[in-house]
Amino acid sequence: MDLASIRNAYRRYANHYDRVFGPVFAQGRRFAIETLNEKPGQRVLEVGVGTGISLPDYHPSTRIVGIDISPEMLAKAEVRAREECPEGQVEDLLVMDAEELDFPDNSFDSVVAMYVASVVPNPDRLVSEMRRVCKPGGDILIVNHFASRNPVLRGLEKGLRPLSKLVGFRPDMDLDTLPQHEGFERLSVRKANLFGYWKLVHYRNGDVADEQDDAPRAAVGR
Ligand SMILES: C[S@@+](CC[C@H](N)C(=O)[O-])C[C@H]1O[C@@H](n2cnc3c(N)ncnc32)[C@H](O)[C@@H]1O
Repeated sequence: MDLASIRNAYRRYANHYDRVFGPVFAQGRRFAIETLNEKPGQRVLEVGVGTGISLPDYHPSTRIVGIDISPEMLAKAEVRAREECPEGQVEDLLVMDAEELDFPDNSFDSVVAMYVASVVPNPDRLVSEMRRVCKPGGDILIVNHFASRNPVLRGLEKGLRPLSKLVGFRPDMDLDTLPQHEGFERLSVRKANLFGYWKLVHYRNGDVADEQDDAPRAAVGR
């Protein structure tokens, strides 16, 4: 998948996204935002904020910056922020590539990406950028559909792969594609729908500088 086909897909989705994907993805979003809301007063980056469907659910003291590659999705988020969030809570909504975040290191207390990891061309770069802009010790949350362990469903997901460009996501992304190593450990992997196809992966960001002093642990996407 490339950025042009992703932009095209979400240009088409923008007007119908909340109706079609609002309820389907709701539980994963709710779990992620509840986790973030356990620490009020944070500055959070939401990567791939889309139509801003989660914005009204953040704790009122949380400050949010959202980025997305689709101007049409972001336009919906702007209306929602204005109409449904306390004034000033949403600091900024910016057109930006999740794989090249235009923020300095350590800019945010926590970083979240919901249903984005299987959309971007390089999930490694996405995670690497999320880590870079997140302060050491901050939470990094990824909600996504991950390939099924059931061989029949797995075959079906692989069969759908050629449609990725059209539908705007990869249906067969494996959970193990996401990094896990010392300094960047998964605190938990939580099922986020009835059958567990959607999951919330919760990481605690290690100190990236320490890892860079330690060659074997610096390997993931940096
Ligand atoms: C499936 S939607 C998820 C939207 C929202 N996070 C939600 O919970 O419904 C994926 C979003 O990621 C955005 N996206 C895809 N690739 C991106 C990239 N490289 N950089 C930033 N946003 C991207 C899309 O435009 C779209 O809004």
